[in-house]
Amino acid sequence: VQDGSLIPRFGRARRDPGLAVLEGLHALKHALRFGAQVTEVVTSDAGELDRLARALAPDVADAIAELAHEVSVELFAKLVPLAPATGVIALARRPAVSADDVLGASTPAPVVLLEDPRDLGNMGACVRVAAAADAAGVLCTGSHDPWHPDALRGAAGLHFALPVARLDPTGLAVLGEGPRRLLAIDPDGEPLSPSTLDPSAVLAFGSERHGLSAGVLERAQGRIRIPMRPGVSSLNLATSVAAVLFAWRLAGDRAG
Ligand SMILES: C[S@@+](CC[C@H](N)C(=O)[O-])C[C@H]1O[C@@H](n2cnc3c(N)ncnc32)[C@H](O)[C@@H]1O
Repeated sequence: VQDGSLIPRFGRARRDPGLAVLEGLHALKHALRFGAQVTEVVTSDAGELDRLARALAPDVADAIAELAHEVSVELFAKLVPLAPATGVIALARRPAVSADDVLGASTPAPVVLLEDPRDLGNMGACVRVAAAADAAGVLCTGSHDPWHPDALRGAAGLHFALPVARLDPTGLAVLGEGPRRLLAIDPDGEPLSPSTLDPSAVLAFGSERHGLSAGVLERAQGRIRIPMRPGVSSLNLATSVAAVLFAWRLAGDRAG
């Protein structure tokens, strides 16, 4: 590894649609565990990284030790906007996944659709909970890249555990026409009934400020509300994804 080229390489990687920037041990651990092709691991303290990996991620500790390249604390701090406390950052190849792959898969689990999410950390939290609930995939519309390093950080690298892709306006316009029904998760819907939730639906969640667009609400074949105590306004986006996915998962006795 040429240390002199690390700063421009890590800078370019943040904008490269073929690469994923993994910040911190948990992101690296999940990426390796779920089959990512990790090309580079840089640490500010190889001994401490090895100790942490053996304690927190023993299944991938050997792989991390093999890839790890130690640099000075000063250089490490220049590679990402906010150096992770675990002292490790890595690059991996992004898997090539399209929205059609996600929608076409026959996995009997819901697809999460995030309509124009604005907060990258929130997007990451949605991916994380979708991976935990074993959803079929996550699709996002809007200007934010779901594979942005901040979203990867919020997801602790769990983008590698399920397909995550962008859905363009053409794809959005035909949602609900395929085998997966489109269900709007919206505070004005019918109360959620976890045991009858269509397991192969696309569950559409709206943006943090504006909720779902009129277009998605009109296309949706059902509208579902998460019951809440009167007086409390809507749930945070990632919290609402968690509530619906885990209601579905627990109702289906898939808790194991
Ligand atoms: C922060 S909320 C958006 C709030 C927005 N002002 C609205 O009225 O829809 C983000 C998304 O979370 C979901 N959400 C939050 N609370 C919900 C609830 N009680 N029932 C159904 N969906 C909810 C919806 O998909 C919503 O679009």
